[in-house]
This record gives sequence, structure tokens and C-alpha cells, in this order.
Amino acid sequence: MKASLPLATLAVGVACQATFEPADFNITEALIGNGVDVSALPELASLVERASTTGCSAACNSLRLIFGDNLASQKDTSFATFLDSYWSRQQREITPQCIFKPTKPIDVSTAVLISRLTQCPFAVKSGGHSAVPGGSNVENGITISFEKLNKIVLADDKKVASFQPGHTWFDIYTALEKDDAAIIGGRVATVGVGGLTLGGGISYLSSQYGLACDNVLSYEVVTASGIIINVSETSYPDLYWALRGGGNNFGIVTQFNVRAVPQGLMWGGSRVYLESAFPALIEAYYNLGMNGKKDGKAHQILSFGYSSGTAIASLELEYADPTPNATVMAEYNLIGGAVVDQTGVKRMSQLTSELAGGFDGLRQSFWTWSAKLDKDLATETKDIFYEGLTSIADANNLTAALSFQVITEPILEKMSMRGGNALGLSPDSGPLSNFLVSLSWSDPADTTRLQQFSAWVKDRGVAAAKAKGKDVPYLYMNYASPWQDPVAGYGEANKAKLQRVSKKYDPTGVFERLQPGYFKLNGAPVNGSP
Ligand SMILES: Cc1cc2nc3c(=O)[nH]c(=O)nc-3n(C[C@H](O)[C@H](O)[C@H](O)COP(=O)(O)OP(=O)(O)OC[C@H]3O[C@@H](n4cnc5c(N)ncnc54)[C@H](O)[C@@H]3O)c2cc1C
Ligand SMILES: *[C@@H]1O[C@H](CO)[C@@H](O)[C@H](O)[C@H]1NC(C)=O
Ligand SMILES: *[C@@H]1O[C@H](CO)[C@@H](O)[C@H](O)[C@H]1NC(C)=O
Ligand SMILES: *[C@@H]1O[C@H](CO)[C@@H](O)[C@H](O)[C@H]1NC(C)=O
Ligand SMILES: *[C@@H]1O[C@H](CO)[C@@H](O)[C@H](O)[C@H]1NC(C)=O
Repeated sequence: MKASLPLATLAVGVACQATFEPADFNITEALIGNGVDVSALPELASLVERASTTGCSAACNSLRLIFGDNLASQKDTSFATFLDSYWSRQQREITPQCIFKPTKPIDVSTAVLISRLTQCPFAVKSGGHSAVPGGSNVENGITISFEKLNKIVLADDKKVASFQPGHTWFDIYTALEKDDAAIIGGRVATVGVGGLTLGGGISYLSSQYGLACDNVLSYEVVTASGIIINVSETSYPDLYWALRGGGNNFGIVTQFNVRAVPQGLMWGGSRVYLESAFPALIEAYYNLGMNGKKDGKAHQILSFGYSSGTAIASLELEYADPTPNATVMAEYNLIGGAVVDQTGVKRMSQLTSELAGGFDGLRQSFWTWSAKLDKDLATETKDIFYEGLTSIADANNLTAALSFQVITEPILEKMSMRGGNALGLSPDSGPLSNFLVSLSWSDPADTTRLQQFSAWVKDRGVAAAKAKGKDVPYLYMNYASPWQDPVAGYGEANKAKLQRVSKKYDPTGVFERLQPGYFKLNGAPVNGSP
């Protein structure tokens, strides 16, 4: 008889672990735990027993009663200003029922619980730079903006930085530069910390330290049941793994605690070249990509486009020390004929500012794919892009670019730090080349044919990679279009594991159903092709 006691204890322990949220979870009681008495809120009182299906006005009016001016409704003047803070026109054209600006993590918890009680959908916005319409804004729902959650703290030992999701990368780098420190994050000033970090995050410093997601030490997360937990390699390790590449599917991150690194002045900037330089640029792109292991301080983005009818390449080069002609950069530096050259010794914040602006507020689209790094494939893909471009060049205010970036071997190696991430990549493949087709335009009448153009370049690019045996399934979430399925690109096993983690921490699928925007765990946001 006595032998059954340890077993029974064990069974209880296992049960607790498996049921993060109990089947009889009571939303009303969880709100009481947050200090919100639903019975005192007129429009919610009738919902105590049963969640409603038409509840967005009840949700927004109740949030207004609880949070006052931190809730903006459509008639408030701040409402239109807020919508203009999105990068893409498509996201600006989405009209939420209300905008909620939490000031504390527990406010986020209350919003999630009220969304559940009223069944009113929500979206969360960090920097608002998602190219996916509805990625961080929701028609008729509650859009949660993190602008008032904007703490940034560098630990005394300068080894850890903690920040909330309301920041842009410019704010973060500027704050840390005073201490000659940096973190691993975005390369454009205005982009937000939340979306970029949850989808991966390619940084100037990635070959030294890995992607942004691989440098998160812990996350403070509001879960579907409104509980606030600290997620790290040792506490909730399965959720920690899932948050490294899993996007918005697992919870709302209210604080990122990340590794900070020493960083002073750097060298870098943009150069523009004409077509005669393209072969040399592709050669140098390939060689620098293959040399990732030799010197991780180098970084590059090679983009092709056109300006006033002329094909141009735009090269973004960085070196993490203030060294104008590092040995590993020499091949690039020998290419003459740059028509623009803005390289120089700078702070990281300045580099990010130089890349910001330009196309904000236009219609936007991103499409992506990846392949093993290959020189001929790079040339062929560039040619495909230019072949198709002639058919869309007449679109109003069009900017079109095809960008190449190397996911270097050191980046791939660092993906296994602290238990690994969800991306499904390993250094065994050798360096990968990421491809991004990015378009900006103004006339909605052009949208369909431009999306079709991007899909065509992607399909032809993937076919070219396949023909050379260089194709890989990985799709970078932060660059994917709504017709793409990055989670499937992580591989069957990782997708299944992500779905299990979601079932455990969010058994009723709050982040899948009530937060409908962005890349979910069961397929592309939009079916078929554009
Ligand atoms: C101009 C420009 C430059 C870029 N540069 C880079 C770059 O250098 N490196 C790179 O890797 N990528 C880059 N990207 C891609 C970028 O990573 C994605 O666009 C990313 O989604 C932007 O994050 P955000 O916070 O601004 O976006 P948002 O639109 O605010 O959020 C994107 C998604 O993340 C979710 N999300 C945001 N915060 C949270 C949170 N705290 N908790 C849960 N979910 C959250 C949102 O729900 C949304 O679905 C760039 C994009 C643009 C437009
Ligand atoms: C949830 O808790 C509230 C407050 O204690 C109670 O009135 C309500 O009946 C409970 N709902 C369910 C579905 O058990
Ligand atoms: C999470 O960790 C931070 C710092 O380690 C601590 O201040 C905070 O109270 C923790 N939060 C929870 C919900 O445990
Ligand atoms: C960069 O270095 C290479 C070789 O080390 C040299 O040939 C080249 O002239 C240098 N370029 C510049 C711009 O200094
Ligand atoms: C786009 O082009 C048209 C004219 O072709 C112009 O009137 C308009 O201002 C441009 N810009 C935007 C953002 O629409």
C-alpha cells in the first residue's frame, strides 16, 4: 500500500505540468485576481456566466471604464494618429474597435481575459512594421499597442539588457550606446523590437552572436489564461524554445531579457552600383558569405532594383569595429564605380537611421525563400527578378528590390545555444542565402499584379534552387508573405512540437483564434496564390 504514495505524488506532478490551464478555468475569477470585478462593469456583468460572440463594444467600453485614457476609441483624436504609426498602408487601413495602451504587464493580462470573456478578437503591435496586413492590427477588434511599455535597462555588469516591447531599435541602441553596449537586434531604426525578435532577427552582429531570438535569456510572458510567467531555458523550457521563432502564437511578451555585448563605433553604410558591377558584387557576396567563420564581424545585404529606369545594386556593408577596410571586406572594397558611397565610421544607431524612412505609409509586400548559398543561383535569381520587373515597372510609385542575405555558418551554429530554437536549421547545410522580394507602391489597383509578380519571382527562384539541388524548406517568418507558411518551413517535427506547446499553454487556442493575425501554426494566413 505504501508503495503507491510516491507514484500518486508523481502522477499529480505530471498532471499539473500537462494542464497549464485547467479545463474549468474561470475567466471571471482570473479577472478578480487582476483586481477587475466584472459584475461592477455594466456591459460585462451579463457575461459572467457565458462568453458572448458579439462583444467588441462591451470589451472596449469596459476597458475604457477600467483604464480611462489608455483606451482610445474611434472618435478620439489619437485614434487616427495611431493608425499612421504602421509602416504599411494596408495595416493603416484596418480600423480596430479600440486601441488599448497598457502601462503594466497585468493590464495586458486583463485585456486578454476580457477578449476571452467577450470573444472580441485582438492584435498586438510593437513597432508595427509587419508587412502582413492584420499582422499587428485587427478590424473591429482590440488593438493592443505597447507604446507605454517602454522600459530599457542595462544591468550594472552590462551583460544583460531588459526591454519592453514598446521600443524601436533606434531607442534601444541609443540608450545602450552611452555604455558602449549593444544587443542583437534590427538594422533599421523604426522597426519594433517585438515582432523582429519573435521571428528570428537578423542583426549586423549576427555572425558574432547569432540571431536576436538566440540571444534572449528570458521572456516575461502573459499567457492565454492571463498568468504572467518568466520563461527561460530552466523554467518552461518548451515554451522558451517555441518563443524563439514561433511568432505571436504562444503569448504576449511584456519583457525581453537579453544578452548585452560590448560595442563601440563600427564601420559601414550603403553603396550604390550600376549593372556593370553586378558580377563582381555577386562574387564578393558569395565569398564573404563563405567566409563567415573567418571573421564574424562582417555583415552584408546585397539588393537589386532600379532607379529612373536604370538597374542598380544597393549594397549594405558593415564591420563591427571602426575599421574602414578590414581584410575580409577587401574584395568588396576593390570594386570600383560606386555611384553613391555612404560608408564610414559610425555608431550603430546612426547606421539604423540611415536605413530608415523612404517608403513608410505606402502599400508594402514581402515574399521570401531560402537556399544553400550558391554563386550561379544568385546570378540566376537576379536575372529572373529583372526579367519579370519589366512587366510591372509602370506601377505608380513603385519600388522593387530583390535582397540577398547570408545566414552564415556562425549564425547557424549559434542556433543551438540554450536548447535551440524552432527554426529547424543546422550548420550541416553550410551557409544559406535568404532571398527577399520587397515592393512598395501606392495604387490599390496594382496590388494583385504586384503580388503575382513577387509570387512568380519566388516560384522561379525556388525552382532554380531545386534544379541545382540547393533548395531548403526554411522561410524566414519576418519576411514571409500572407500566402506563405513559415511554420511548415521549420519542418514537420518542429511544427508538431510547436502545436504541442501551444496546446499545453493555450489549450483553447486564444492566440490562434482570438488573435487571428499573422502566421499561425496550421497553415498560411491566406490560402492559394495571389
Ligand atoms: C523597414 C524594415 C526593416 C527591417 N529590418 C529587419 C532587420 O534588420 N532584421 C530582421 O530580421 N528583420 C527586419 N525586418 C523585418 C521585421 O523583423 C518584421 O517586419 C517584424 O515583424 C517587425 O517587427 P515589429 O515589432 O515592428 O512589427 P509588428 O507589426 O508590431 O509585429 C509583428 C508581429 O509580431 C507580433 N508581436 C510583436 N510584439 C509582440 C509581443 N511583445 N508579444 C507577442 N507578439 C508580438 C505581432 O503580433 C505581429 O504579429 C524589417 C522590416 C522592415 C519593414
Ligand atoms: C466563475 O466565477 C464566477 C465568480 O466566482 C461565478 O459567478 C461563475 O459562476 C463562475 N463561472 C463558471 C462557468 O463556473
Ligand atoms: C521575472 O523575473 C524578473 C527578473 O528576474 C523578476 O523581477 C520578476 O518578478 C519575475 N516575474 C515573475 C512573474 O515571476
Ligand atoms: C583595401 O585593402 C586591399 C587589400 O588589403 C587594398 O588592395 C585596397 O586598396 C584597400 N582599399 C581601400 C579603399 O583602402
Ligand atoms: C504616387 O504617385 C502619384 C502620381 O503618379 C502622386 O500623386 C502621389 O502623391 C504619389 N505618392 C503616394 C504616396 O501616393
